[in-house]
Amino acid sequence: MKQKSSEIHVAKVLPFSEESLTFCAKALKSDSLVAFPTETVYGLGANALSEKAAEKIFSAKGRPKSDPLIVHISFMRQAESLTNMSEFQRQCFDVLGTKFWPGPLTIIVKASNIVPKIITANGDSIALRIPANKVAQELLKQANIPVAAPSANRFGHVSPTTAKHVYDDLSDFDDLYILDHSENCSIGIESTVIKIFEKNKIALLRPGAISSLQIKSELNKEKINFKFEILQRVVKIQDIEKSANISMESPGQLLTHYAPTIEAFIVTNQSKSENFGQTFSKEFLNSSVIIDFNQKNASLMKSSLKYIDLSSRGDFDEASQNLFSYLRNAEKIEGAKYILLPDLIEQNNEKSFGVFDRIYRAASGKYINII
Ligand code: TXA
Ligand code: MG
Repeated sequence: MKQKSSEIHVAKVLPFSEESLTFCAKALKSDSLVAFPTETVYGLGANALSEKAAEKIFSAKGRPKSDPLIVHISFMRQAESLTNMSEFQRQCFDVLGTKFWPGPLTIIVKASNIVPKIITANGDSIALRIPANKVAQELLKQANIPVAAPSANRFGHVSPTTAKHVYDDLSDFDDLYILDHSENCSIGIESTVIKIFEKNKIALLRPGAISSLQIKSELNKEKINFKFEILQRVVKIQDIEKSANISMESPGQLLTHYAPTIEAFIVTNQSKSENFGQTFSKEFLNSSVIIDFNQKNASLMKSSLKYIDLSSRGDFDEASQNLFSYLRNAEKIEGAKYILLPDLIEQNNEKSFGVFDRIYRAASGKYINII
């Protein structure tokens, strides 16, 4: 199935048109892969009811089968046959789906038995989302099937926010059509993921544009009784490689995730106990690309190879939109050996959590001190 890019059969990029949209909807129905823009990142879509189609996602991405897939639907009633919800799940699902969909929220509830095991990674829950991007919506509507879609990057690499990013990572997969639309991913980081347990508990598994405060406030308005937990477990990639059956609440929570191909660090002026120890040298800075936020590390600009700011005015929405493309650009700069990222942990703002979560993982949790 995998072919070298020098061979004829490679992934095809289709400039957006009504015809290419219809073509892609048909391709999904016949179990091919279609990469499409959403408001968060590009998704790598496959028919969620076909084991054969879902297999292709894992093979194209090089993703371990222990990592379940998000299923994209186009309207809330489409969730009926895919789920088998408890009363509590149903109540929360209705409130949150009605309020936040279409939008960047993924909701995990109990799966029904029509969902192929490859989608749930042999678990009993399913992750669902209705995307807000118009191209994604039209594609789902025309295909008229639930579409499994992880981010369309090579496993562990930075998520894609343009069709070109997808092509750069997955061009050697022959049964893939990439729908290229200029109105790309306006949010720029993946959806917030929550899990609704069968009884009275909700957990945040991945931060994103919809905050836990917003989620809690909607449930409180409806006087629903619930416990809310933040279950962001940081798991090292070696642990998942050791055991394909490793049990994790959210298997995608790997420490080394969203990682550029060159080494990245978070710049700090504080001592971070476990990771403290690395310091700058002149040569180090000369071969470093600095990706900043709100001009925090602007003093390093002159001695660095290249300096770019995610948002020089300190806007987290702008930063999240830019982060993945800046990381991908940085790894391609000639002479670049390192990427230095901003420490946003001290920003006491829930909007910074999603961006910093990706920065932390891009750097595999490594900090570096300024002397
Ligand atoms: O914004 C997004 O969510 C994008 C776009 C394309 O929709 N998709 C995306 O998918 O980020 P992916 O596969 O890269 O991330 C999905 C995350 C993973 O961490 C996965 O482990 C988790 O959701 N997940 C999916 N199904 C799950 C389940 N049933 N139980 C627990 N975690 C689940
Ligand atoms: Mg991903």
